Amino acid sequence: MRCRAAVVGLGYWGPNLARNLVQSAADYELVALCDSSPARLARLGALYPSVAQFADVGDMLASANVDLVCVATPVASHHSIARAALNAGANVLCEKPLTSTVEEAEDLVQLARARGKRLFVDHTFAYTPAVRAIRAAYQQRVLGSLFYVDSVRINLGLFQADVDVVWDLAPHDLSILSYVLGERAVSVKATGSSHNPHGLTDVAYLTVGYEGGMEAHLHLSWLSPVKVRRMIFSGTDRSLIYDDLDASEKVRIYDHGVNFDVADVEARKRVLVSYRRGEMRAPALDTSEALAVELREIAAALRGESATVTTGDDGLEVVRVLRAAATSLANDGARVAT
Ligand SMILES: NC(=O)c1ccc[n+]([C@@H]2O[C@H](COP(=O)([O-])OP(=O)(O)OC[C@H]3O[C@@H](n4cnc5c(N)ncnc54)[C@H](O)[C@@H]3O)[C@@H](O)[C@H]2O)c1
Repeated sequence: MRCRAAVVGLGYWGPNLARNLVQSAADYELVALCDSSPARLARLGALYPSVAQFADVGDMLASANVDLVCVATPVASHHSIARAALNAGANVLCEKPLTSTVEEAEDLVQLARARGKRLFVDHTFAYTPAVRAIRAAYQQRVLGSLFYVDSVRINLGLFQADVDVVWDLAPHDLSILSYVLGERAVSVKATGSSHNPHGLTDVAYLTVGYEGGMEAHLHLSWLSPVKVRRMIFSGTDRSLIYDDLDASEKVRIYDHGVNFDVADVEARKRVLVSYRRGEMRAPALDTSEALAVELREIAAALRGESATVTTGDDGLEVVRVLRAAATSLANDGARVAT
């Protein structure tokens, strides 16, 4: 049976969810659209005239029989909307970051469990062919152990009114890293600055420590004249560069490296450093849209089949790291446990 789905929040991201739901017609029927802005509701409603329209989530939940509510409103409203949807007996796919506080995220995870419903979080990058290829390369030890990960996620805008650049952009890096590494982040050091009248941090640098000891360095900015989406995974055997803006070679694996030959402790002063420069290969990636893959896997999970999905627990973990980053920002970059 097809899943009856609704989208709440039809600004920048919500229309992508609506389009993918409609394109995934074997699994879903888009039955309701909701936005408190009449103009946005009318604009998307015009594209899908047979779909019921609501200005209020409560009205939608009371009158439309919905199996999956997709929440694509600003972060501050995720908790109350997702809570209402779970209480109305629906499953929820919530945008990242799951909530604005750890307590709210914990509440949703517990509520979903108590109601016997599924809570998914839209960590979109975990469904991209590029990130899946990176995970495979790491998990199959193609890279060896990681020295570090360095990520640059900068562009001009989109300034958000209710979250800073860390809460807006870091969820992407954090969800990619926990998916690729299969490890939890255990600590964060964060510094940053604000150049806007809201006082929200718009440039930030995070160092995130993982269970296995590896550290990831994230540079996040809404104030860069150019857009960069690049992650370097520096490994003992090979290194990988993921450039999400490169249409043809998003993932490149370099057989380059450095060997530190130290015969014994006494010889440390005479470390022999040798450089290895080998081939580069760019694995072929399919061109599936992440949201389409995500919706397919969510539909399978809802049917009780095994599927790789990002859940409320994954969303909660990211929110814990974001809270630690906020504490560190307020404490001059001190290391804060998650
Ligand atoms: N997964 C991704 O790659 C990705 C990309 C962009 C944005 N997002 C996330 O999507 C969410 C929305 O971001 P956006 O950029 O689309 O925001 P946006 O401001 O463009 O759109 C939000 C929409 O929600 C509506 N809205 C607000 N409160 C509402 C309520 N209580 N009931 C009904 N409608 C309400 C607004 O009128 C607006 O149309 C955020 O959580 C953001 O982090 C995710």
